Amino acid sequence: MAFPSDFVWGAATSAYQIEGAHQAHGRGPSVWDAFCRQPGRIRGGDTGDTAADHVNRFREDVSLMKDIGLEAYRFSISWPRVMPDGVGAVSEPGLAFYDRLVDELLNAGIAPWVTLFHWDLPLPVHHRGGWLNDASPDWFDEFTKAVVDRLSDRVSHWFTLNEPQVFVGLGYGNGEHAPGLSLPIEDKLRIGHNVLLAHGRSARTIRERARTAPEIGWAPVGIVGIPVDPSVDLEAARRRTFGIGTDPIWSNTWWSDPVFLGSYPEDGLKTFGHLLPSEWERDMPLVRQPLDYYGVNIYRGDYVRASSNGSHEILPLRVGTPRSDFGWEITPDVLRWGPQFFHERYGKPIVIAENGMSNADWVNLSGRVEDPQRVDYLARHLIALRGAIESGVHVRGYFHWSLMDNFEWAEGYHQRFGLVHVDFATQQRTPKASSEFYAKVIQSRGAILEQLPRSAAGEDPFAVVVPSKNRKKVQP
Ligand code: FCB
Repeated sequence: MAFPSDFVWGAATSAYQIEGAHQAHGRGPSVWDAFCRQPGRIRGGDTGDTAADHVNRFREDVSLMKDIGLEAYRFSISWPRVMPDGVGAVSEPGLAFYDRLVDELLNAGIAPWVTLFHWDLPLPVHHRGGWLNDASPDWFDEFTKAVVDRLSDRVSHWFTLNEPQVFVGLGYGNGEHAPGLSLPIEDKLRIGHNVLLAHGRSARTIRERARTAPEIGWAPVGIVGIPVDPSVDLEAARRRTFGIGTDPIWSNTWWSDPVFLGSYPEDGLKTFGHLLPSEWERDMPLVRQPLDYYGVNIYRGDYVRASSNGSHEILPLRVGTPRSDFGWEITPDVLRWGPQFFHERYGKPIVIAENGMSNADWVNLSGRVEDPQRVDYLARHLIALRGAIESGVHVRGYFHWSLMDNFEWAEGYHQRFGLVHVDFATQQRTPKASSEFYAKVIQSRGAILEQLPRSAAGEDPFAVVVPSKNRKKVQP
C-alpha cells in the first residue's frame, strides 16, 4: 500500500461533543450550552452537560487511543473552559486540564493536533455580537495567545477553525445550530469576513509565539464533486467543487481562496462582492497567512457529469443507495478526488481532518459492538485515499471522525460516529469492531487493505449510472 512512511494515522473529537463537566474549572457557558436549553432545539432535549465525561475519563480515553495504535489525536480546546468570559481572565484550572491531556497523550506516544475553535463560542462573546462584532478577531486572538503560550512547548500541530461553512451556515443561516439565528446574507458575509480575519490573526499568532516550530492549517468542510467517468467528467467535477453556487457560505472557495490565495473568488465577488464589508481587500494580506497543510473534513460527495451546454449536472443517486444512519450517502470515491482537487488548487499537502459515518451500533449479547458498515466504510475510503496518493497527491494524514460516540450537535446522542462505543447512561466504553480493524490498518500501515477479500459484486455498489459508451472522452 502506498501510504507514505510519514503518513499520520489519527482520530478526532471536539470539546463540547465529549468533555462534559460543563461547570468544572470555572468554565463559562458557550452558545451551545444556551442553545441546548432552548426547547425543541436538540433532538430528545439532549445537552452536552455530561457528554462522554471525557474531562474525568481522559486517561482511560488516551489508553483506548493507544490500544488502537493512534499516532495522532485531533481534539479542540474549549474557549469558555480556558476563558470563562470569552475575553480577559484565563482559568488556570481550565488550562491545566489541557496540560494534563497533552502530557498523557505524549506519554502514550500520540501527537496532539489541536483545533482552537470547534463551535463553542463563549456566550458572553455572543452577547457582545459574537462574530458579527468586528472585535471578534481580537477576542479570538487573545484566546489563541493563552493556549499557545501554555501548550506550544509540547503541541506543534494546529488547526485554527473547524468548518466555517457549517457554524456560519447552520448557526447564523438556517438556525439549526447554535446560536440558532437566521440572518440576512450581508450579516453572514460580515460574520464570514470576521471569521477569516480571526483565522489569519490566530495563524499569525501561533507562528510568532509558538515555542516549538508549528505546523498550521484549518479544517473547512470539503464540498466535493466526484466525476462519474474521470475520462470525461473531471472538469465538471472540478467546477462543482470550486463553483460558488447559490450560497457562498456553502462553498469551498469563498473561505479557502482568501486563506490560501488572498482573495475572494471571482464568481463569488461578481454576485456577492457588493455585500461585503467595504474595505475587505485591505484585510486580505492578514487573512492569507503561510500555512503548512490543507486540513479538510470530507464525509460524502456529489456525483457529477459534464452536461452538453459545457456546464455540469449533479446526478441523483440510484434508488436504495447505501446511507449512514444520518442518511448521508456513502460515496467512497470522494476521498479519491477531493484531496486531488484541493491539492491542485491550493498547492498544499492535504490532511483529512474528519471522515466517518454514524451507525446504529449497540453492545450485543456477548458484549461486543459489531459495526461492519463502519469497517467497510473505513476500508473503502482509505483505499480511495490511497488512490489519490498514488496519483501524486501529497496526503499527510487521516483523522477518523470520531474516536468515540459523542454529542452530535442538533442530533444529540442519536448519531453514533465512534470507533469506541459509549453507553451514555453508565459512561462505559466498548471498542467497536471498527477500532480493531483500524488498529490493524495502522499496524500494517495500510497493507491489510490489500488483503481484504474482494468480489465483483462489492466492487462498485455506489455507481450512480453506467456512463454511456459513446460519450466523448477528453484527456484528464
Ligand atoms: C462535522 C463536525 C463534527 C461532527 C461531524 C459528524 O461537521 O465538524 O463536529 O459533528 O460533522
